[in-house]
Amino acid sequence: MKAVMRTKYGSPDVLELREIDRPDPKDNQVLVKVHAVSVNPLDWHVLRGEPFLVRLMGFGLLKPKHQILGADIAGRVEAIGKNVTQFKVDDEVFGSGMGGFAEYACVSQNRLVLKPTAMTFEQAAAVPVAGLTALQALRDHGRLQSGQHVLINGASGGVGTFAVQIAKALGAQVIGVCSGRNVEMVRSIGADHVIDYTKEEFWRSEKKFDLIVDNAAFQSIGKPLRVLKATGIYVGVGGSSSTLSFLQSLIVNPLIARMKGRKVVSFMANVKQADLVSIKELLEAGKVVPVIDRKYALSETPEAIRYVEKGHARGKVIITI
Ligand SMILES: NC(=O)c1ccc[n+]([C@@H]2O[C@H](COP(=O)([O-])OP(=O)(O)OC[C@H]3O[C@@H](n4cnc5c(N)ncnc54)[C@H](OP(=O)(O)O)[C@@H]3O)[C@@H](O)[C@H]2O)c1
Repeated sequence: MKAVMRTKYGSPDVLELREIDRPDPKDNQVLVKVHAVSVNPLDWHVLRGEPFLVRLMGFGLLKPKHQILGADIAGRVEAIGKNVTQFKVDDEVFGSGMGGFAEYACVSQNRLVLKPTAMTFEQAAAVPVAGLTALQALRDHGRLQSGQHVLINGASGGVGTFAVQIAKALGAQVIGVCSGRNVEMVRSIGADHVIDYTKEEFWRSEKKFDLIVDNAAFQSIGKPLRVLKATGIYVGVGGSSSTLSFLQSLIVNPLIARMKGRKVVSFMANVKQADLVSIKELLEAGKVVPVIDRKYALSETPEAIRYVEKGHARGKVIITI
C-alpha cells in the first residue's frame, strides 16, 4: 500500500510517500481502507515533536513512535480482528487512530462508529478530533446549559466550526471570534454574533459570558477572565504551542484564576466511542455540518500539513485517498 511516512522528527520535508506492506489488524482492531483523512494541528506537533512535552506524552523521546500520522480516518472495513464484534467487512466507518495518511490503517474497534449514510467520507473524516474536542469542551468541561452565553475564540478553525454548531445545538447564545475574512462563514454556521479580532478585542466587550472556549489562547489569561461571569468557566483548548505556554496553562493560569475567583480548565480531548455516537446523532439530525476548507491528494500530505501549521485553516483540511 501507499503511505506517507517519516522515520525522524522534523518539518513536513521529512515525510516520504512509500510503498509498504499492508498492516494486519490485531484481535481487537479493524483494518480500514482509508478513503479520507483530515489533518489536525496534532499532526504537525507529533511530526516535529514540538513542543518537547509532546515526546513525553508517549510519542517517542528521541525517535518518533508513529511513522505514519493522520488521526482522523473515514473509510470501509476491509478486514476485522478475531475479537471484533461491532463491525463487519464493507461497513463504512469513521473514527480516530494514528496511521491515516495511508491507503489502509488499523484502528481499535472502540475508536470507530458507523458513518452516517448521507455523509461523504471527506465529511466524516473531518469530524473525530475536532468534533470530540468541541463537544468535550462545551458539554463536559464547560458544563454548557441551554440559554447560556458562550464565547468561542478561534471560531473559524477545525475545533471552532464544530464548537459553534454544537453550542447552538445545546441551546446556547453563541459569540464567535475570528478574522474578518471568516465572519460571514461563522455567522452562516449559527453564531448569533461574530467579533472580528483584527478590529476588536473581545475582552473589551461590555458583555459577560457563562463560558469561554479558547481555541486561540495567544493572550494572557487575565484578558478573557475580564469578560467571564463570576460563576463562569474558561476552557483552554489550544493556542500558542511553546512548552512555556503549555506549562503556563497548566500551572500559572489556574493560580491567576484562583486569585480572580474564576474557574479555568485545560484539557486534552479523549477518543470516546459514546461521544463519537453523540456527534454522529447531531450530524444525522443536520444540526452539525462539517466545514471543509481544502482537499489534497495523499502525495500532497506535506503541503496539507504546512497549510494547517500556519494556523488559519477555515474549518477542516482533508486528504482524499
Ligand atoms: N486540547 C485538545 O485536546 C485539543 C484538541 C484539538 C486541537 N487543539 C488545539 O486547539 C487549537 C485549535 O485547533 P484547530 O484544529 O481548530 O486549529 P485550526 O483548524 O488550525 O484553526 C485555528 C483557528 O484559529 C484562528 N485564529 C488564529 N489566530 C487567532 C487569533 N489571534 N484570535 C482568534 N482566532 C485566531 C484561525 O482563524 P482565522 O483564520 O480567522 O484567524 C483558525 O481558524 C490548536 O492550538 C490545537 O493544537 C487542542
